[in-house]
Amino acid sequence: MKKVYLLSAILVAASALAQKQSTAWRVDSVLELMTLEEKVGQMNQYNGFWNATGPAPVGGDAATKYQHLRNGWVGSVLNVQGVEEVRAMQRVAVEETRLGIPLIFGCDVIHGYKTLSPVPLAEAASWDLAAIEKSARNAAEEATAYGLNWTFAPMVDISRDPRWGRIMEGAGEDPFLGSRIAEARVHGFQGSALNDPLSMAACAKHFAGYGFSEAGRDYNTVDVSDYTLYNVIYPPFQAAKKAGVATFMNSFNTLNGIPATGNQALASVLKEDWGFEGVLVSDWGSIGEMQAHGYAENLTQATQQAATARCDMDMESLAYVQYLAALVREGEISESIVDDAVRRVLKLKFDLGLMDDPYRYCKRPGSWEPTTSPWSADAQDLAEKSAVLLKNNGILPLTKKQAIALVGPMVQEKNSPLGNWRVSSDDNTALSLYEGMVQVRGEKRMAVASGPVFLKGPISFPFEAEINTTDTAGLHSVVDAARNAEIAILALGEHGFHSGEARSRMSLHLPGVQEHMIREVLKVQEHVVLVLYAGRPMILPEDITEQVDAILLAWQPGTMGGPAIANLLMGKRSPSGRLPVTFPRTEGQIPLYYGAFNTGRPGPSDAVFWSHYGDGPNTPAYPFGYGLTYSTVTYAATQAKQMGDSIAVTALVKNEGKVAVDEVVQLYARDHHSSVGVQPVRRLIGFQRVTLKPGEERMVSFSVTADLLSVTTSEGERLFEPGTFSFWVAPHSAAGTSASLDWK
Ligand code: GLC
Repeated sequence: MKKVYLLSAILVAASALAQKQSTAWRVDSVLELMTLEEKVGQMNQYNGFWNATGPAPVGGDAATKYQHLRNGWVGSVLNVQGVEEVRAMQRVAVEETRLGIPLIFGCDVIHGYKTLSPVPLAEAASWDLAAIEKSARNAAEEATAYGLNWTFAPMVDISRDPRWGRIMEGAGEDPFLGSRIAEARVHGFQGSALNDPLSMAACAKHFAGYGFSEAGRDYNTVDVSDYTLYNVIYPPFQAAKKAGVATFMNSFNTLNGIPATGNQALASVLKEDWGFEGVLVSDWGSIGEMQAHGYAENLTQATQQAATARCDMDMESLAYVQYLAALVREGEISESIVDDAVRRVLKLKFDLGLMDDPYRYCKRPGSWEPTTSPWSADAQDLAEKSAVLLKNNGILPLTKKQAIALVGPMVQEKNSPLGNWRVSSDDNTALSLYEGMVQVRGEKRMAVASGPVFLKGPISFPFEAEINTTDTAGLHSVVDAARNAEIAILALGEHGFHSGEARSRMSLHLPGVQEHMIREVLKVQEHVVLVLYAGRPMILPEDITEQVDAILLAWQPGTMGGPAIANLLMGKRSPSGRLPVTFPRTEGQIPLYYGAFNTGRPGPSDAVFWSHYGDGPNTPAYPFGYGLTYSTVTYAATQAKQMGDSIAVTALVKNEGKVAVDEVVQLYARDHHSSVGVQPVRRLIGFQRVTLKPGEERMVSFSVTADLLSVTTSEGERLFEPGTFSFWVAPHSAAGTSASLDWK
């Protein structure tokens, strides 16, 4: 076994060295050596299924997979934890198989490995592309030290439905912001070269349409128009592809009746229209799930459908490894499809440098305490930039002299702020809000009470987080602390395991007894600040939002959330986050998003015949792009002027207050008429995060090109049509004065 590998490696390396052959030549040189089963093996990915540093597993699933590994029938493994485990498994692949082709080690490094930045939706709220890119880079640097070289991120699914728990994992509702963030994350994870041992292959997921799961119920049906596909869902995927993302992942859902994993039209868009040359991996078991969908009668047919749809790698369906070789031999699947998939997988392994040195990711073993790691300061910085100030009557920032009550279920939480996607991080490693407040203001004149228990039962990834909805024991301590303080800081919201995969919710209200708690506090204390923890838009009753003095949305802020939120509460820094997703008033408004069509009866009207509800307003509680600072920033009227083949759109922005602020200046446009179809009343086409000193004013300008105003047709063509456009330079999607212009 070993001799063949060494010989082939020497031959390939020598000839490549001698002739500096292209990767394609080297890939083909290996492909020619492979049996059909070995080719199929490269298309097979297993979950890290045993302690590889221990004795070989015996009996059952793990033993089968271990034998497949030794046969050379495994191309990649996911969720392997730790360098020693990676090394041990890589050794089996390299030294015990006939060709010794190394494995790729994947993992969901979504917003950090052990040092966690805020959840991705929170990161998006920073609108700080450089910080978001750095966050992904940091995650890659930490994860690669543990032997990993492939992350299943960025998730680029656009979503307008906060009932869907995975809205937490993406960049919100807008394709322009989502596209810019997709690029930043791909660049962060992959760096300037995939063969940099601190880089890891990124993965644009879930292709496609997953964020439009009907009723916000995870894994549910997706049925969307070509307009929505090409102008809302696809753009972040295309941006990731243009940014050089190495891999894509299929989504679980059907798309217009056909499961994405077996959807040839989707594969054609990706691999033909967009020319994607990387690896398309299935989602976990999604090949096999085509049987439950009612698309495949059995796993053999599912194998054929997935292979025909050019899914290059099977994650944990055990479909390809069982049936693909036979389908090729029976002439049901052309071997050229297998060869194309294997070329993609081998190319990725060459690009990562694994074929030249299979253990290159095992040479920086390290372990860092997350709160003091080399990446913790960046994680805190991003948590500070991500928090969104939703209301403030001037009570914030606090002073050290004030006697405060720091109360509520999130006050001492060290686990929840890590969010749901902390696959590799260790529980309870976040700094709590209490710890942050002690760090920033000291513990004098600060009463602390967590109050009633928040969750009952096990709190972990595979279990529903069971909410306490009845037991108010401990509420009195919260109320007493609030009564005796000058200000009550109420830290509450949803638990980190309330959002994320398989965490859809019908109600977006505060879970459990929390609304009751707020009302009891309001009875005894008129000065109340809410610090809201959430992985999605939440709904706060208007009687509460009207009474409290301030609301700071902390999201799930990650490892350094405590000091980050404390810094904002104490005014060390002004909040600067802006909502990447609309916060509805009620679930009944969903889907509610700013980039909607005007309809034929936009209203309001004296008569009833216009598009509205009889029991509430159309407007959201807080619109896309919204967020306050500790100052007042004013925007002069927007100006627009054609400058040759572009339009200059400007506005004078001024910091009227006494503190420096980071202002996210947003540019929206409206195309009043298009032959492709009606256009949204507003569409984000640019933004700039500008720092303004007290009293400083800045002329903020944008150069608008025809492409920024183009629409994509259902043939995938970008189409620009001259005509009337309106522009807004504004602080959010429901503000600003427009400037209209006829583009000749
Ligand atoms: C999960 C998720 C996907 C993830 C994969 C591997 O079910 O849908 O986002 O990357 O399986 O963990």
